[in-house]
Amino acid sequence: QAAAAAPERVPDMGKRNLMNLLLAGAISLPTAGLLGPYLYFLVPPSSGGAGLGVTAKDALGNDITSSGWLKTHPAGDRTLAQGLKGDPTYLVVENDGTLAPYGVNAVCTHLGCVVPFNKAENKFMCPCHGSQYNNQGKVVRGPAPLSLALAHVDVVEDKVLFSPWKETDFRTGEEPWWS
Ligand code: FES
Repeated sequence: QAAAAAPERVPDMGKRNLMNLLLAGAISLPTAGLLGPYLYFLVPPSSGGAGLGVTAKDALGNDITSSGWLKTHPAGDRTLAQGLKGDPTYLVVENDGTLAPYGVNAVCTHLGCVVPFNKAENKFMCPCHGSQYNNQGKVVRGPAPLSLALAHVDVVEDKVLFSPWKETDFRTGEEPWWS
């Protein structure tokens, strides 16, 4: 009997293994989806950063270079780039025409609208409920409870890189609420 049962079990086991593989595949796809952003965050896909951060991308998804950006963005300019975790983040051109060492996360700390920069007022002004932030993203009018988050901006071999800002918020002297 044992000898007869064995051949029957073989295709059965085979099916089960296949099922397990399919099941594993079904589970690992969403898992990979969840891990993806983390991996993207920890291991920058763009080269040239040496682990310093993620390359800032322009609206078309192209890597931003410091020289290219400063050619088309004058002193005082604040223009959105794709930042950490995909958050829209402003690159700031200082009044002397250099790129600021910080970027300003555009996500309003009230309810998350993307906050445009108003050149005439020299402020970030949220269209949703009227919150205002100065030109460095420090909150100056509610209902937003907090200043806009910061990210470090570094230039390595002309590439503009974002990395997490974990130090004191230079605008408020407080610990960063976002890290
Ligand atoms: Fe910006 Fe409400 S989301 S003020």
